[in-house]
Amino acid sequence: MDNSNLYIGLMSGTSADSIDAVLVDLSSETPQRTPKLLATHSVGLANLKLPDKTPIKAEIKALASPCDNELHRMNQLDRTLGQLFAQATNELLTKSELNPDKIMAIGSHGQTIRHYPTSNTPSSTNTDMTYTVQVGDPNSIAQLTGITTVADFRRRDIALGGQGAPLVPAFHQAVFEKPGFSRAIVNIGGIANITVLAGDGSPLLGYDTGPGNGLMDKWIQQHQKKDYDNGGQWASQGNIIEPLLESLMNTPYLEESPPKSTGPELFNSSWINNHLTAFTTANPADVQATLLEFTAQTITQALKRHTPTPREIFFCGGGAYNTILMQRLETLLHPNLIASTTQLGIPPEWVEAAAFAWLAKQTLEGKPGNAPSVTGATEQAVLGAIYPGRNFRM
Ligand SMILES: Nc1ncnc2c1ncn2[C@@H]1O[C@H](COP(=O)(O)OP(=O)(O)O)[C@@H](O)[C@H]1O
Ligand SMILES: [Mg+2]
Repeated sequence: MDNSNLYIGLMSGTSADSIDAVLVDLSSETPQRTPKLLATHSVGLANLKLPDKTPIKAEIKALASPCDNELHRMNQLDRTLGQLFAQATNELLTKSELNPDKIMAIGSHGQTIRHYPTSNTPSSTNTDMTYTVQVGDPNSIAQLTGITTVADFRRRDIALGGQGAPLVPAFHQAVFEKPGFSRAIVNIGGIANITVLAGDGSPLLGYDTGPGNGLMDKWIQQHQKKDYDNGGQWASQGNIIEPLLESLMNTPYLEESPPKSTGPELFNSSWINNHLTAFTTANPADVQATLLEFTAQTITQALKRHTPTPREIFFCGGGAYNTILMQRLETLLHPNLIASTTQLGIPPEWVEAAAFAWLAKQTLEGKPGNAPSVTGATEQAVLGAIYPGRNFRM
């Protein structure tokens, strides 16, 4: 195959809401180096089942903590998700009327089911014991699409003593940095992470600030059987419970210095319930309002730690569609400029998938994908493993 600059990125985040697939043109000559989004496709996970009829989303959540028969269940999920990632890719190609041999590679993040970097294992100071697990078999993806697939991006960084996360800041820097301008990119998925692009040549900064939508999703699922609080409407009907907010803000993770990353191993339903033991009669909508405020304040606090606070702040991830959350962030971050990444050329829901397309390109070109100043790895590394497709040439 001729060298093509067409790459596909596949992402399924901790929210386990959907598999997001993007087809991007990563030609370096595109204006401002922003990848050109040629096609997008999303496969919702909410109603999908494993071959034995277990709901996939429930199985992802179950495997996030110790459970029965883990090894077998994890590998069944791995195979099924691999097939679904391939399906998402094939549907994306049909939409874009492209033949697989036009695509240089797929970058697949996979689905994280466990993430134990140092900061999630306070009792363990031994970085040799840290690990992160993503499933979604890349062999199945390469086989069923015919396209070379790059996957398992995080574990090389972990092997270098890093957090293995977040990986998106290096991509944010490559495509969104504007020399002379102080910018931040905030990704609000299940967990929220920030990237600070100082624009003055100082080292890249980025880390997980804490929960994004994850806690609000869990709370509304528990009380209203809805996947998420559309537009933050339910939260807007409640009042913030100040002592509860104070107790949430006392979480030690928030005070830890970066590098740091986190996940549902820490911020989960039992974590909410532990905080609620002193508020058993609280109105559920008030709790939702408090969780929204908690997300807004932890993101703001993290951004304001960097002086001067980044002037332009661009939001991505599904949280960018939570109107009430965004209004709160706008107020808290005033007078800094707030916008969505659409203004930078990529709508919020596709940024992370585009990042994994870019990471695949970095790998094929033998270039590093991690930023040690972000992850804490001892050095940069070419990330991931390559699963050859039909046109693969060494
Ligand atoms: N219209 C909306 N209103 C409120 N929240 C939304 C909306 N659309 C998406 N979200 C939130 O975004 C989440 C998905 O965001 P995403 O960036 O895919 O996260 P992840 O990377 O964890 O999968 C949903 O679970 C939901 O909480
Ligand atoms: Mg998602």
